[in-house]
Amino acid sequence: MIDQPSLLKSVIKKGVAGAVVGAILIGVGKALAFPPVFQTMFFIYAMLGAAVFILLDAPAMNPIRGIRAAAVLVAFYVVISAAYIGGASLLPQYDPEDEKGKIEKLLKVKREKAEHDLKSLDELIQRAAALDTKVQALSARLKEVAPDSTLSLGPAADAVKPAPGGMSLLARGMEVYELHECYNCHKIGGKGSVKKRGPVLDNIGNLLTIDDIKKKIFDASYLYAEGFEKEHKKGQMPDKYKELMTEEELNALAAYLSTLKNPAVDTPKPVFVKTKMEHGFIVYGYLRDGRGNPVPGLEVQAKPMKEDVRTATAKTNLEGYYEIFLHLHNEDSGTKITVSAKGVQKDIVATYDPNDKVTKRQAAVDLSVPAG
Ligand code: HEC
Repeated sequence: MIDQPSLLKSVIKKGVAGAVVGAILIGVGKALAFPPVFQTMFFIYAMLGAAVFILLDAPAMNPIRGIRAAAVLVAFYVVISAAYIGGASLLPQYDPEDEKGKIEKLLKVKREKAEHDLKSLDELIQRAAALDTKVQALSARLKEVAPDSTLSLGPAADAVKPAPGGMSLLARGMEVYELHECYNCHKIGGKGSVKKRGPVLDNIGNLLTIDDIKKKIFDASYLYAEGFEKEHKKGQMPDKYKELMTEEELNALAAYLSTLKNPAVDTPKPVFVKTKMEHGFIVYGYLRDGRGNPVPGLEVQAKPMKEDVRTATAKTNLEGYYEIFLHLHNEDSGTKITVSAKGVQKDIVATYDPNDKVTKRQAAVDLSVPAG
């Protein structure tokens, strides 16, 4: 017969021993940083061991035979299989979403770092802009304190200052040069104008100030390149930029051109058209007495024979030389002018080509006046 009390004793004794061993194994597993799943498995192994020992000490069963034996065997397999399958399905399963989550976590760290780096780059740019503003302010102060100072931070500071859109002023200037197709007639660095319509500009920065370049672009008649008189007279450099270009474009373009300082490339010298020829006519000459001596300090009068043009006067200098500027316009060509001094007079006709913006509009009138 089955010895009930001793079986119960054995189960309790070995069950407790298994639990203690299992607890120790969990502790060791934790200390060795085994995942919780493994720790649980160690515990289960310990309990299985205890079960084996309980079975070994269990009292013998009545022998089973025939169909019953087969049925019990099958039932045993079914229970064991169910335990294994059930147990396995309780273990953590491979889940694609899980893995994605893990990868996402890794990426997140990298992304956050990249974002942080970008932010510091933005900060750097902002700090550079702030510094630039300071430089400009300092430069302005400097001009206030010492107007003639050569200690200006001018073009160099300007040149690196970002233009709208974050571009440097020079890059913007280059862009404007392309945009307005200056290269159709001009060459820089050997590029542009195949037909040599206009002058090479490689050394223009040594010949013209930013201000003069600006004036030339907005008013083609302001100056001309030496050797290009014919082209200038024909007005080949377009006179439309004042309408087409914004102030911002003009500033950038002029700043860029002013940096072109290559003396090795023969850039024609600019010749400034001094008085705006379209607006005036100069009468000049010498006053001499009967013996050919200069007559200084004598008033000379030039009277245009045109209602709306005022008569002008000038006094001769020690050499007897005078120069009178008359306000004659393009359409006034052909106006008769009477030049007189001390009762002596000479008539001339002011003729000029209204389209010629280079040749000075002037006439020499020498007078011989009575001595005394
Ligand atoms: C259709 C032809 C043409 C185009 C386009 C043109 N130019 Fe000119 N440019 C000339 C000619 C010709 C001259 C020489 C005669 C003169 O000075 O008027 C000249 C002269 C100049 C000079 C003086 C050069 C010197 O050596 O003194 C400058 C500076 C200049 N151009 C700048 C420009 C800029 C900037 C542009 C574009 C916005 C431009 N030009 C577009 C034809 C052109």
